[in-house]
Amino acid sequence: MIICKSPAEIEKLRRSGRIVRGVLEELRDRVKPGMTTLELEKYTERRLSELNAKPAFKGYRGYPCCLCASVNEQIIHGIPSARRVQEGDILGLDLGVIVDGYVGDSALTVPIGAVSAPVQKLLRIGEESLELAIAQARVGNRVGDISAAIQTHAERNGCSVVHEFVGHGIGRELHEEPQIPNFGSPGRGPALKEGMVLAIETMINSGGPEVRVLEDQWTAVTADGGFSAHFEHMVAVTRNGPDVLTRW
Ligand code: MF3
Ligand code: CO
Repeated sequence: MIICKSPAEIEKLRRSGRIVRGVLEELRDRVKPGMTTLELEKYTERRLSELNAKPAFKGYRGYPCCLCASVNEQIIHGIPSARRVQEGDILGLDLGVIVDGYVGDSALTVPIGAVSAPVQKLLRIGEESLELAIAQARVGNRVGDISAAIQTHAERNGCSVVHEFVGHGIGRELHEEPQIPNFGSPGRGPALKEGMVLAIETMINSGGPEVRVLEDQWTAVTADGGFSAHFEHMVAVTRNGPDVLTRW
């Protein structure tokens, strides 16, 4: 069952969305070569408590942290650690919060210092795929229109899309229906209705699409070691078109 939200509920989700995106933007500004991902986790923990926002990921199915920090070939669910990011790396930051009972969830991937031209292109294709996907979040479209927009743009540009992990509906729960794959066909899947709120997540690989999960049972990496970019926004489907609740 897909839960449609009232305008008042969408405003609550916008509050959560703005808080989560604000902290991510602070992290983006703050991260420098030589920092550990655990330092970013500590910063996040402190900011969430200052903002009276509860972490949504910590304890979720046993996940140990507030933040997911995924470096280079890590696609998603990297656990903050003593690893130091270096110039030329890319760092995926994914954060979830709960404010007043409503969940906010967003992600972005930042270059550390100067990165190579192919890596810059990967980040651009990842962000563009998300924007094209958001544009499909309209009453009368289907989930497959969103999925196809991501897949088409990524593959046309020589990248591949992850199949094993998907975007999701969001509301009082972090993961609600429907699932939003990064691959699919236009006109297929659940119909989009006014009041649906979707966390659309693009996970784009520079090499092949195959995924492996590390021994920690969380970190998803590309099987071929190619870099991967992750971007996520929450979008409400409204009669006036897509409304991004995590815009900063
Ligand atoms: N943005 C991811 C998701 O929506 C992050 C979840 S991490 C977890 O699934 F620990 F909460 F699972
Ligand atoms: Co998500």
